[in-house]
Amino acid sequence: MERLTVHASVQYDIFIGNGVRALLGEQLKAMFGAPKVCLLCDSNVAPLHLKEAADALAAQGFSAASFVFSAGEQSKSPETLFSLLEFLAERQFSRKDVLVALGGGVTGDLGGLASALFMRGMHLVQMPTSLLAMVDSSVGGKTAVNLAAGKNLAGVFRQPDLVLCDLDYLRTLPDKDFADGMAEVIKYGMIADRDLFDSVKDGDVKDKLEEIVTACVRIKRDVVSRDEFDTGERAKLNFGHTLAHAIEKESGFSVSHGAAVAMGMVAICAIADAHGFSDVLTFPAVKAAVEHNGLSAVSPFPLPSLFAASVGDKKRSGNAITLVLPSEIGQCRLKTMALERWKELLGA
Ligand SMILES: NC(=O)c1ccc[n+]([C@@H]2O[C@H](COP(=O)([O-])OP(=O)(O)OC[C@H]3O[C@@H](n4cnc5c(N)ncnc54)[C@H](O)[C@@H]3O)[C@@H](O)[C@H]2O)c1
Repeated sequence: MERLTVHASVQYDIFIGNGVRALLGEQLKAMFGAPKVCLLCDSNVAPLHLKEAADALAAQGFSAASFVFSAGEQSKSPETLFSLLEFLAERQFSRKDVLVALGGGVTGDLGGLASALFMRGMHLVQMPTSLLAMVDSSVGGKTAVNLAAGKNLAGVFRQPDLVLCDLDYLRTLPDKDFADGMAEVIKYGMIADRDLFDSVKDGDVKDKLEEIVTACVRIKRDVVSRDEFDTGERAKLNFGHTLAHAIEKESGFSVSHGAAVAMGMVAICAIADAHGFSDVLTFPAVKAAVEHNGLSAVSPFPLPSLFAASVGDKKRSGNAITLVLPSEIGQCRLKTMALERWKELLGA
């Protein structure tokens, strides 16, 4: 088991390993006394893992309720958010109580925002069950729901009080969703850790999950500790994401986040290589890593058609956009350019 501590505006621990879900009750008691607990889960994760979590809490004397929503990105919406807030209010939860987000990134983002809004803030525990949520979304405090105009447009920064990253949950994760998480793992390798990139670009990753998840979380922990509110370096975590968010939006969210990130990384590397932004060629290695991990390297939409959706992204400011460009494998840089130049690079 690994234990990492985030030093941001608040300090919190992340436990990573097989079986760490068993720590939930004792950690809640130590941190909050005897709170009421609301377990938040989607309709895929609930039949697999909710009962075990609820039973364990009940056995330790906690009063626990469960809110289950329909699985999928379409539930990361103001409607689901407000249903959850109403549920908490009807069940008389208070600011001293705890919301446990047991699920993937959708559950974590939704639960994070609800925990910040309910009575101006109740406690939050992230228990990620997808690889993507373990390596990325459960740590760092970005929460959001989507609006019709785009991804993650309504949200707040809300650090969790605790993250329990139990690798056992990955045993039930479908291969396609596992591959989505690998897109974010490749991203961490690309932006900060060449050894991590090399360790996942070929060979089997399933026998070194604790090592891989810990490496990713450590990078995210360090970046978030230095730039919690995304005013500089944290933007690097968006490598591949400007085009990914455009692809997700154009597909009506039928292309998953991880799949879109894989396509977005390959596309931005191709652009960087072709226009001399990278110090060495990055496209061949990233394309190979993506494909080795069961992801498609090709956007279903031609790049020129993604321009409009890409500039709705939060990385745009006025007539300029900040891109995360690869310098080499394991290093990237931020570059702000005029929208006209970005349009040209996309061939639009
Ligand atoms: N807040 C952040 O910093 C941040 C970072 C990256 C991504 N995100 C967000 O995360 C979301 C994507 O996360 P995701 O890929 O986990 O999506 P998700 O929550 O929809 O989970 C993917 C699928 O896997 C299923 N699932 C999850 N865990 C399972 C398990 N153990 N067994 C069986 N099925 C399981 C879910 O039900 C779902 O069908 C996007 O909305 C993205 O914007 C947020």
